[in-house]
Amino acid sequence: MQAREHDIAPLLLAWYDRHARTLPWRSPPNGKGGGQPPDPYRVWLSEVMLQQTTVAAVIPYFAAFTARWPDVASLAAAPEAEVMAAWAGLGYYSRARNLVRCAAAVAARGGFPQNEAELRALPGLGDYTAAAVAAIAFGQRAVVVDANVERVVARLFAIAQPLPPARKAIRAAADRITPDARAGDFAQAMMDLGATICTARAPRCLLCPLAELCAARSEGDPARYPVKLPKKVKPERRGTALWFERDGAVWLVARPPEGLLGGMRALPDDGWDARRDGAGVAGGEVLGTVRHTFTHFALTLEVRRMVGKPAPIVEGAGEWWPIARLGEAGLPTLFAKAARLVLA
Ligand code: ADE
Repeated sequence: MQAREHDIAPLLLAWYDRHARTLPWRSPPNGKGGGQPPDPYRVWLSEVMLQQTTVAAVIPYFAAFTARWPDVASLAAAPEAEVMAAWAGLGYYSRARNLVRCAAAVAARGGFPQNEAELRALPGLGDYTAAAVAAIAFGQRAVVVDANVERVVARLFAIAQPLPPARKAIRAAADRITPDARAGDFAQAMMDLGATICTARAPRCLLCPLAELCAARSEGDPARYPVKLPKKVKPERRGTALWFERDGAVWLVARPPEGLLGGMRALPDDGWDARRDGAGVAGGEVLGTVRHTFTHFALTLEVRRMVGKPAPIVEGAGEWWPIARLGEAGLPTLFAKAARLVLA
């Protein structure tokens, strides 16, 4: 296999020239008469949105954000609450807060830095995003490893060590096959290969440009890679959300800036987040429960229709929000589910 590592990038890039997905934040690959570098702002915004989120989910948000905030200066000038509300439904809301901070930092220095190390120092840019922006927007050689790339590399080299400990070996192998030229196309080609051919289940090896070089395929069962340690069972939490209604409006609060769903508009609740399990609220009428899975736990949220005034249960400021315009409130998915339950 070693001697043939050099063949991987040219084969993959030739495949990408023909089969690259057309995506709103992309420039066409060199081979398609492209070679125009894409706008760094659009690359950065898309890569932040794509963390832990599928391409299909990101596309409408990317369109809405770039229509409303077409460049980094306009996003830097946007009120954080508006950006948070526009992000509602994408999840991992710390990304949205960091987005505004990063836009401000970039606008203040007059543009994005072009190398990986300086990009890494910006708010919200981790190893993955800094490498992706350096490679895709600025053509720098950078080793870009997301979950798709992990899967492709684990199979190419039949890396039997399980994830997450295998990350180091996978990264080293990805580094060996990353070319000096067209690093951005190479990174996106690996992602496209992982998304469309080298899929988690039932990989389509007959269509794969790297099939001849793939150690997992020659073993006969490529889908067994990447090997993964058994997933920890997520702990269960319970909580209660409260529905106060008056004159066609519902009482919404702003969650504290730090912590889970920080800064997002929400239904008032019993403090299930801070206390892990809610203290439970007596009174009102139980309308049902909704389930939502977060990164580190699964939540069963009971929804109660309350009577009377929101105080004293509700701490802090809130607002009566017209139910007819609830879609514009920017509720995160958990509370949007709760509202749908009430309004069904
Ligand atoms: N996932 C994350 N970044 C991506 C990109 N630039 N193209 C396709 N899928 C991606």
